[in-house]
Amino acid sequence: MKILVTGGTGYIGSHTVVELQQEGFEVVIADNLSNSNIGVLDGIEQITGNRPLFELVDLTDATATRDLFSRHDDTRAIIHFAALKAVGESVEKPLEYYANNLNSLINVLVGARACQVPGLVFSSSCTVYGQAETLPVTENTPRRAAESPYGNTKMMCEDILKDVARVDPSLNVIALRYFNPIGAHPSARIGELPVGVPNNLIPYLTQVAAGIREELRVFGDDYNTPDGSAIRDYIDVVDLARAHVVAIQRLLEGKNTRNHEYFNIGTGRGLSVLEIIRAFERATGVKVNYRIVPRRPGDIEKVWADTTLANETLGWKATTPIEETLRDAWRWQQASR
Ligand code: NAD
Ligand code: WQD
Repeated sequence: MKILVTGGTGYIGSHTVVELQQEGFEVVIADNLSNSNIGVLDGIEQITGNRPLFELVDLTDATATRDLFSRHDDTRAIIHFAALKAVGESVEKPLEYYANNLNSLINVLVGARACQVPGLVFSSSCTVYGQAETLPVTENTPRRAAESPYGNTKMMCEDILKDVARVDPSLNVIALRYFNPIGAHPSARIGELPVGVPNNLIPYLTQVAAGIREELRVFGDDYNTPDGSAIRDYIDVVDLARAHVVAIQRLLEGKNTRNHEYFNIGTGRGLSVLEIIRAFERATGVKVNYRIVPRRPGDIEKVWADTTLANETLGWKATTPIEETLRDAWRWQQASR
């Protein structure tokens, strides 16, 4: 059964390709390598013994995307990861973000409809909730106006999918709203490959632990949280990858109750920045040099998921303990030096 994975050489995509192959799916990756490299295919092959088919395609190119679909008109489902994802960069380059993230989704939907692909899983984000008034957030928590062009593309893509699914009952869509994906495959063959100075907490932290950067700046200790640092729901990337496999199975088995569904994909537990540092030190025995600095503009105080719907409806649950996830992140950091 052929699954098209756009953005499949990226961080979350590559882990998902591994889980799909291990479940027996045939995977075709389409990526323009704008934020990943071809060597990721070696890592996937080393883990699964199976090299996925790779198509170098810029999905903003309508003709190239149409041709991709005609070469793979037996695709049974799509996982659409391909997007630009740096929040800060999106503020500086809004047009690039809107053009890339919206056009690639539109072209993929045109291809999906032309080939009558019945199922599509979309990478959405907890960013759509902003700072929610009540926690944890459920799928019915109202979305908030986006703080960044990146966040806005996720809202707009969710809306495009909803509108298309409404007029095309044969297209079944699941939007997964990821919380904070972290960690790496336990084999240390694939992981996150940040370009330049990392923006996200875990790659920055592991680079400090490795001595590549001098200190981790903890952005704010004056939040209304037990230790004053901000709280997030950190989800292990392999657990997250497995959520895609169950979402695909739900669509292929026709178990979805509506043709357009949303699921929160997190652990259901919030951890503060300081708790993450302590957990990393416990898990690895490596001290992290850190300093408290003022809040980072645009950051929210706290968010974590209510995952009841994913647990009960998808039969999926995050199971990896945080220490194990952080150990995997550390192993990956050491392997990729
Ligand atoms: P990533 O940058 O590692 O992977 C995205 C991949 O898409 C890259 O390989 C890139 O080369 C490719 N790509 C981008 N634009 C493309 C285009 N026009 N044509 C073809 N390929 C293109 O990012 P990731 O962390 O793996 O994120 C995957 C998805 O999950 C994205 O949609 C992202 O917005 C979403 N998401 C990520 C996070 C996170 O914290 N990592 C959280 C929530 C949602
Ligand atoms: C986590 C916490 C920081 C770096 C982003 C996007 C979001 C989603 C996930 C895609 C925060 C603190 C960080 C550092 C720190 N992506 N921090 N020092 O901002 O929660 O979410 O990625 O959809 O849309 O905004 O993730 O990893 O940057 O930060 O103290 O050097 O770590 O303030 O509290 P964030 P993050």
